[in-house]
Amino acid sequence: MTQHFEVKPMTPTIGAEIIGLDLTQPMSDGAFEKLHTAFLDRKVLFFRDQDLTLDQHKDFGRRFGDLHVHPASSPFKQDGVEHPEILFLHADENTTRTAGDTWHSDVSCDPEPPMASILRLVKIPPSGGDTLFASMSAAYDALSEPMKRYLGDLTATHDGTENYSDRAKRRDGVITNRVYPRNTHPIVRTHPETGEKALYVNTAFTSHINDVPKPESDAILAYLYQHISNVAFQCRFQWTQNSIAMWDNRSTLHHAMWDYFPNIRSGFRVTVQGDKPV
Ligand code: SIN
Repeated sequence: MTQHFEVKPMTPTIGAEIIGLDLTQPMSDGAFEKLHTAFLDRKVLFFRDQDLTLDQHKDFGRRFGDLHVHPASSPFKQDGVEHPEILFLHADENTTRTAGDTWHSDVSCDPEPPMASILRLVKIPPSGGDTLFASMSAAYDALSEPMKRYLGDLTATHDGTENYSDRAKRRDGVITNRVYPRNTHPIVRTHPETGEKALYVNTAFTSHINDVPKPESDAILAYLYQHISNVAFQCRFQWTQNSIAMWDNRSTLHHAMWDYFPNIRSGFRVTVQGDKPV
């Protein structure tokens, strides 16, 4: 059983590399407890050289909770076996748009958006394809007190329609009338495990702030997007083959850089079910 590993912080604010943990091996409850604490504290964890099978990847995700099935993709199939809980990410010379090339929290349009995502990349471009992560609790803490009070009463609509229908159109070449999730969430959410407050809006899914005039919603969202892009809240991960990033969707945003066209980048994501943001 794997018991000992090191948690090496990447910046004072966010991110840590986990050194000495082999995720193909069973993990003791003590090791899991330490990893879970590091996940809550650092918000994004990085692991290198993890040559997991899809089942091992799913089993690792299940230590954290039930697995999420993506509302906009079809089940991934390998050797005739369907893996609905696996999201296959792939970009190559035919790609016209990649998943996640803008700041977002995964599937925030869901009624109960995922708490964590665990991505393993198996093909890496010669350079580029980094993923950036930003702490939304650091972003919240850096707001002025009047702004915190103003945002504290507001909710926003998160709508998957534009994002997912565009992706489906590019992938399948047809426009479908499929209905994607659309839900209302507080702009400031309280983390169910740490109690920390975090900003919860993003460019991929947040369509507008509810109950205020559109010009006000547009202006406030523009301000928040500029605020959350401050490099002081961020860390950046350079992938190597079989590395894993695991992030907390409740307290972070991420941005997958698509600067490697026409090269190939691909991998598998397991996503852990979350609860209703409050
Ligand atoms: C995503 O899950 O949003 C994509 C992240 C990545 O490809 O780095």
